[in-house]
Amino acid sequence: MQEKFEEIRKRALEEAKQVDSLNTLNEIKAKFVGKNGEVTSLLRSMKDIPNEEKASFGKLVNDLKEEVNKFFNEREEYLKNKELESKYSKEAVDITLPGKKKSVGSLHPLNIVRNKIIDAFTGMGFEIFEGPEIDTDYYCFQALNIPKDHPARDMQDTFYFNDNILLRPHTSPGQVRTMENKKPPIKILSPGRVYRADDDASHSPMFHQIEGLVVDKGVSLCDLKGLLDEFVRKIFDSDTKTRFRPSYFPFTEPSVEVDVTCCKCHGKGCSLCKGTGWIEILGAGVVNKKVLEMSGIDSNVYSGLAFGLGIERITMIKYGISDIRTLFENNIKFLNQFDRR
Ligand code: PHE
Repeated sequence: MQEKFEEIRKRALEEAKQVDSLNTLNEIKAKFVGKNGEVTSLLRSMKDIPNEEKASFGKLVNDLKEEVNKFFNEREEYLKNKELESKYSKEAVDITLPGKKKSVGSLHPLNIVRNKIIDAFTGMGFEIFEGPEIDTDYYCFQALNIPKDHPARDMQDTFYFNDNILLRPHTSPGQVRTMENKKPPIKILSPGRVYRADDDASHSPMFHQIEGLVVDKGVSLCDLKGLLDEFVRKIFDSDTKTRFRPSYFPFTEPSVEVDVTCCKCHGKGCSLCKGTGWIEILGAGVVNKKVLEMSGIDSNVYSGLAFGLGIERITMIKYGISDIRTLFENNIKFLNQFDRR
């Protein structure tokens, strides 16, 4: 009997050592101490043991049962720890690894400048009106006092779909569309793409303009000067000065071209301003009475001022960009330099 006990003990220890998964451990343990296990059935054979030996036999079986349980419990503990360890090591994060850098997009320099310009003017009470990019001869020219075959059309030669429909060469049709639909006082800004048959380092066949229009009683060239002085100080340095030069646009009378003191040399003269100290930034003027009348506004009561600026031009001056084409090449390294949020 003694030997049989010893043999079971040894075998249980051996098998407990070999189990390497928690799933099978209980199965194997049950072979020994389960309901029909070997050790349990020893207890059942108690009835065949002579009475005087029953007590010591019972103790031996219980001891064996306890021992076998211990083997498997220890093994269970060991396997559980092992499983946890491997789980932890799989989930471990190496905090010494360098982080993955997320590349964040940036605003295009034209959008940065466009937003700044819009902010500057909306801060002075202007509303935004966007007109169509494809427009008619009437809105692009005739209603702006540029009749058919007028030589001023040459300044803005553009792309025609037919005799009447074209890609707008400027945002000035926005003036007409606004005046036709809105009673004064009018104070609008009309940003958008425009198209011209031009292509070199400072001209692109597609570029962006912002048109400004103010119509009210008593609006004069002085208001234009004050408005543009304020705008220029917001976009360039606060000590930037403006200068009006006489010019000609059929839709404004008088017409001016507006220069600012060069932002690179502050007026001393450098390569950017070609030694003059001044850079031209936009065209403007007092709205021609004919234009007001054609759009149904009484020019004896109301007067207006208008200006049109090129966003590319302002961007190039502001950031010292010498070739307009770099603004459209989508070179990420170039584009990333501007947006410093
Ligand atoms: N439309 C003119 C241009 O494109 C600019 C301009 C707008 C001039 C408004 C005067 C008034 O050149």
